[in-house]
Amino acid sequence: MPLSLSSKSMASIHNHTPTTTTTTITNGTTPTDHDHEPNETTQTHLPKKPKLSSPFISPSEIQSEFSHHDPNVARINNGSFGCSPRSILAAQQQWQLNFLSQPDHFYFNDLKGGILQSRTLIKHFINADHVDEVTLVDNATTAAAIVLQQSAWSFREGKYNKGDAAVMLHYAYGAVKKSVEAYITRSGGFVIEVELRFPVTSVDDIVTEFRKALERGKSDGKKVRLAVIDHVTSMPSVVIPVKQLVKICREEGVDQVFVDAAHAIGCTDVDMQEIGADFYTSNLHKWFFCPPSVAFLYCRKSSKFCDLHHPVVSHEYGNGLAIESAWIGTRDYSAQLVVPSVFEFVNRFEGGIEGIKKRNHASVVEMGEMLAKAWGTNLGCPPEMCSSMVMVGLPACLGICSDSDTLKLRTHLRDKFGVEVPIYYRPPKHGEVDPITGYARISHQIYNKVADYHKFRDVVNNLVGDGFTCALLMDHSVEGS
Ligand SMILES: Cc1ncc(COP(=O)(O)O)c(C=O)c1O
Repeated sequence: MPLSLSSKSMASIHNHTPTTTTTTITNGTTPTDHDHEPNETTQTHLPKKPKLSSPFISPSEIQSEFSHHDPNVARINNGSFGCSPRSILAAQQQWQLNFLSQPDHFYFNDLKGGILQSRTLIKHFINADHVDEVTLVDNATTAAAIVLQQSAWSFREGKYNKGDAAVMLHYAYGAVKKSVEAYITRSGGFVIEVELRFPVTSVDDIVTEFRKALERGKSDGKKVRLAVIDHVTSMPSVVIPVKQLVKICREEGVDQVFVDAAHAIGCTDVDMQEIGADFYTSNLHKWFFCPPSVAFLYCRKSSKFCDLHHPVVSHEYGNGLAIESAWIGTRDYSAQLVVPSVFEFVNRFEGGIEGIKKRNHASVVEMGEMLAKAWGTNLGCPPEMCSSMVMVGLPACLGICSDSDTLKLRTHLRDKFGVEVPIYYRPPKHGEVDPITGYARISHQIYNKVADYHKFRDVVNNLVGDGFTCALLMDHSVEGS
């Protein structure tokens, strides 16, 4: 299991952060115990009991940390862009000021050490063998480009043969699919998509389809060179049994396995020894409270053909991926430097990031079930296959008939009702009667309140009551003209 870093173990690693990097809440009210003090008229002469004050962050402190969020929006979409609390934004600004106050001093004395410190904390947290296995990059998209660029070179340099295969899920993230097209297909690779049924009913369905795809990849004496496996798919959102799929890849002789775990850290279990992939990336700005944008890319030291480079080449080319990536030209590195402050922030919660993750999961499942009951629908997968996001069926009478309908409905919910939630179109299968064709992906993060989900429930119920259907919504291109 990954290590959970206590404040004590943090302190031993945490020695580069500028002293001005604090977790002070810079806005909003500070709660006091006065709220709970008996007033004069109710005061008795009984001896006072000692006060039990919680060592953890209070609800009003959490509210202050997110006081920059638009109060008019039920933001139940943490999955897309994550969130960053005010204390972390303050720490980030301090790093930015440190740079701007004396850039040369910062460059020569602080930057490398600061990034190494962040990588070291991540290394412990994800249970990697060595800090050299951990690189910080901008985002999961960049991490995918690093891995796929290496596959493209393997085709070009004759390590792979034309027609060798790469396997990925049908539900792989759109931008990553484009990257596979740009690097693998253009290099002569054959791309196989693993079809998955939705709603998902069991892990076994996924495993069976994955095995079939590998078989196809190996037909005619070809080799499967790369498997790209999501840990938590984006749309529809489901937790994929990565550990099992990586093991199958090993048994079937797949050369390299890349896990696109853009959502994973802070949202599901992340342990490099247990998962066993060659490459694994997770954003830190989605579920780990970093500001945009930062992700880690783990690269197993013992991997075959490991010739990884940052796509933006700069002075450090050839010095190892982690060092190359720590300087890709003049830019703002502050999102990478606040990682120690984020560990401090999450340790203000009971159970740290693990506790946050567990509570988010329990809450999102509870809210998903509440919505499904209110609308007479169902969840998109069993609760144990959900992370901090759940797919909830929308009433069929909303008439969601295309991807374009989902976008129009999402815009309508945002613009007219202040509800932010992504929607997935699930085409009806032949012979299905009154199928659910739209699923909302709801997220739960520490700033969410039950009222956010009640607002969504009531808006949808009112739309249904008013006889609304997506056919009534105009195309944006038409609306704008
Ligand atoms: C599965 C998956 N992969 C990759 C990405 C890309 O993340 P980013 O835009 O931060 O690079 C996302 C974003 O939501 C995602 O869900």
